[in-house]
Amino acid sequence: MALIETHIENRVATITFNRPEALNALSREVIAAFREAIRTLRQDRNVSVVVLTGAGEKAFIAGADIKGMAELTPIQAAAFAAEGQDALFELERMPQVSIAAVNGFALGGGCEFAMACDLIYAADVAKFGQPEVNLGIPAGFGGTQRLTRLVGPMKAREMLLLGKPITAEKAEAIGLCAAVFPKDQLMAQVRAIAGELVEKGPEALAKTKALIREGMDLDLGRAIALERESFAVCFSSPNQKEGMAAFLEKRKPNWERT
Ligand code: HXC
Repeated sequence: MALIETHIENRVATITFNRPEALNALSREVIAAFREAIRTLRQDRNVSVVVLTGAGEKAFIAGADIKGMAELTPIQAAAFAAEGQDALFELERMPQVSIAAVNGFALGGGCEFAMACDLIYAADVAKFGQPEVNLGIPAGFGGTQRLTRLVGPMKAREMLLLGKPITAEKAEAIGLCAAVFPKDQLMAQVRAIAGELVEKGPEALAKTKALIREGMDLDLGRAIALERESFAVCFSSPNQKEGMAAFLEKRKPNWERT
């Protein structure tokens, strides 16, 4: 069985981390296979939404592979962190909208992979956490930065310094996930949300997700200027004409996919 399974249906690609015997822990091989999968998908015109989830009953991803990290030299540790960090930049920069369907434990690297997705939905049984301090290391796949940007420094410190996992309900309350669903309904709900996204203007979605990510690292004036540029660029797309014509003609838009 492949470490990463990709399934495409109705313009939605589902990437499943498939190492359930190790709670889908991220080995170098898993990260390499994941990068390969997203590089292929980012060029696939038949894919509008990418969903990440974990195989098995217990975990989304229980973190980076601790067995694989235990004996790393500092140079190897830097290379391993860079592989995960680069994978997550690639995930964030995909033109398609990404959704983490967090079906169980999302710990350490698992929480970090989820946070690089545009949307996070969780099963009621899911647990989110950054428990690295228990292993004598800080987070290494961007957790100290993305968690802080998502939930603010106080809640981020609580998770990153105490290392204690939180429930899906709490994750929703602090803005770490968008909504919580009963476990047996998670994938159906995520597919329904993905189906709604498929109906939106493709350039508009790509620009919006990029503006939110990039804007967070800019001062407000520059971020708003970037928004204006993206807004203007969309007027060079046939889909701006189509979206507005469809509204005025009281019909559904027929998007051009380039
Ligand atoms: C390697 C892991 C693993 C991990 C679980 N397993 N998490 N293997 N790396 N991160 C393996 C276990 O060793 C075990 O294998 C099998 O999966 C089932 O796990 P159990 O512990 O038996 O299950 P359970 O008792 O239900 O406990 C679930 C759990 C626990 C609470 C999620 O597994 C756990 O605490 N895992 C580690 C979580 C963690 O610390 N994650 C952060 C990693 S550091 P065997 O062979 O014994 O059956 C990280 C850094 C990222 O992510 C940045 C790097 C640069």
